[in-house]
Amino acid sequence: MTYLLNFGESGKNFIKIGKRPKVQEAMLRLAAPLRQTEFRSIGETMQKRELGNNNLEVSALGLGCMGMSFSYGPAGEKQEMISVLRAAVERGITFYDTAEVYGPFTNEELVGEALSPFRGKVVIATKFGFKLKPNGEPGWLGLDSRPEHIKQVAEGSLKRLKVVAIDLFYQHRVDPDVPIEEVAGAVKDLIQEGKVKHFGLSEAGAKTIRRAHAVQPVTAVQSEYSLWTRGPEAEVLTTLEELGIGFVPYSPLGKGFLTGKMNENTKFDSSDFRNTLPRFTPEARKANQALVELLGKIAQRKKATPAQIALAWLLAQKPWIVPIPGTTKLGRLEENIGATAVELTSDDLREIESASSKIKVQGARYPENIERMTGL
Ligand SMILES: NC(=O)c1ccc[n+]([C@@H]2O[C@H](COP(=O)([O-])OP(=O)(O)OC[C@H]3O[C@@H](n4cnc5c(N)ncnc54)[C@H](OP(=O)(O)O)[C@@H]3O)[C@@H](O)[C@H]2O)c1
Repeated sequence: MTYLLNFGESGKNFIKIGKRPKVQEAMLRLAAPLRQTEFRSIGETMQKRELGNNNLEVSALGLGCMGMSFSYGPAGEKQEMISVLRAAVERGITFYDTAEVYGPFTNEELVGEALSPFRGKVVIATKFGFKLKPNGEPGWLGLDSRPEHIKQVAEGSLKRLKVVAIDLFYQHRVDPDVPIEEVAGAVKDLIQEGKVKHFGLSEAGAKTIRRAHAVQPVTAVQSEYSLWTRGPEAEVLTTLEELGIGFVPYSPLGKGFLTGKMNENTKFDSSDFRNTLPRFTPEARKANQALVELLGKIAQRKKATPAQIALAWLLAQKPWIVPIPGTTKLGRLEENIGATAVELTSDDLREIESASSKIKVQGARYPENIERMTGL
């Protein structure tokens, strides 16, 4: 067994301390008096959380894989992305997020290939529900959650992910043309056939969640949630708590903004989706720095980074919340994992709440045509 030694509150300071028992013992003895020291074995490094009431246990933080192939500029180099994904497994992440539409297809293929040595040891979530463009062109033409289409998508995802069952199959967006009972019924059939293990919804409204849950228990809902996108607090989170459904915040780092690594001068690649978001215009980025400054102030006190505080804040909201930050870089993956070692006290949380409530976030998270597809 290889051990990681973590010294310091920041959680950034992991070092491997060897595989030989004698070396480990010596290191453990030496480190014992250090107050903040803790030891974790690789593969068991992270606390676990339970999503829903159907025995879906995952690491407290998952890994969002979308940006490795889609949305944030050109796709990453394949072998490099595979090594980041495998490094995540080694560091204890057991929950991976992808979707048919990411690419399309290429992100599921990447995740399937990278994680095939760990089949049965990791949970892979994917999503259906977009009507794709012909010939694998990026983007989508609309929504399609007709039961026959859901079943077709499941077959494709199973092949690309190289699994016999999809661990968690989310409807990516609610399709206004297909009653949610039919969608839940189609996933229920797939579960009965052993092709899917758990049902999820993404960006669904509270009423839809209840109706779906009545047909096929929903294990997790995935929607955008972070310090600058607090929509789910109004109704969705209380509904999930009542029904015993887990919550998976996507874009938990505000698509990178909350990490403090970008400002009004940051230039995105021309294919980067953030160019189209009102919240990412240079003016909005300038105005929204106030939120990053708040995170920076708390981070300094906790000997952590703004990204770690943004994630620790989410983890502190409810024990059934599992954020899925995305990154293409090993160093940032490790930084983000460090968030699980940051404990925010009730005073810290009160301070964040009170200071952030005085900051008015500039710019909508999505353009209107995309926002209209959410909360249905
Ligand atoms: N259900 C849905 O509709 C939906 C929508 C969007 C996303 N998602 C899922 O949620 C996952 C995460 O969301 P997201 O990727 O949109 O946003 P995010 O996790 O909030 O942020 C990702 C961005 O932050 C950067 N980043 C990550 N860690 C960082 C760090 N420590 N310091 C500085 N920069 C850092 C990444 O760049 P680098 O790669 O350069 O590190 C990337 O540009 C996605 O991968 C996807 O699986 C789902």
